[in-house]
Amino acid sequence: MAKIGVFDSGYGGLTILEKMRHALPQYDYIYLGDNARTPYGTRSFEVIYEYTWQCVRHLLLHENAALVVVACNTASARALRNIQQLDLLKIWEQDGSDVRRVLGVIRPTVERVSAFTRSKHVGVLATPGTVASESYILELEKQDPSLIVTQEACPMWVPLIENAEHTGDGADYFVKKYVDEILCRDPEIDTLILGCTHYPLLRKKIEAALPAGVHVLAQGDLVASALTDYLERHKALEEKLDKNGTCEFLTTEHPEKFRQSASVFLNDLNISAKHIDLQ
Ligand code: DGL
Repeated sequence: MAKIGVFDSGYGGLTILEKMRHALPQYDYIYLGDNARTPYGTRSFEVIYEYTWQCVRHLLLHENAALVVVACNTASARALRNIQQLDLLKIWEQDGSDVRRVLGVIRPTVERVSAFTRSKHVGVLATPGTVASESYILELEKQDPSLIVTQEACPMWVPLIENAEHTGDGADYFVKKYVDEILCRDPEIDTLILGCTHYPLLRKKIEAALPAGVHVLAQGDLVASALTDYLERHKALEEKLDKNGTCEFLTTEHPEKFRQSASVFLNDLNISAKHIDLQ
């Protein structure tokens, strides 16, 4: 029997894990944060891919995850396609089973955008890595070629959150800076995608910086609902999953550091994590 793996470069994926556990509490989850090497968002394509595959492979081969959700937009944008199209095939060949799967967070997000936008002007706030990949532009165009998409890289937001500075006055300046910049480039935006799993922690400040009528789209509920649908359609995989309602945490950082920071995301002081070394 097997678990659902959830991977992020840092703590942002916890915002997705929380919604997944709320929607699907019966499954056993294992979260891996590559906290020692975060942030990924400002790194090169090659490094993001290498780190992401190390983490996903660890969950698949050493932690008995049958399904891994890459709960990181940067990793989804930069590494998911190679993993799905090349690396997984090698693993399937080695163990003679093709049940293991790896999913991302960008597709479930863009699939729902048309339900929100009226003006067809959509904004994407994301890390520099996600913006440079143009994944959102490409995926949104596939959904609806008439959408007008504007992206804005927000390099200061992940560091603010990772350092627990996201609720203070200092964060207001950087939230307003990027929100103003994207709206200045396209004032007709009526739907703003938070294209980084860290950003829901800044949601209140982002909403406060926006004019009325702009809808903010966070990913947690969208990914949880897409996963529910996916498991209904993939019975062979679903039947392999353990259903004890457990959740474990792995980190490449020190477990105590993980506990302190993860408590900000999950509002739970009793998180206990295990340190892992990746090869
Ligand atoms: N949480 C990641 C994302 O969704 C970004 C964090 C990072 O830069 O590593 O893109």
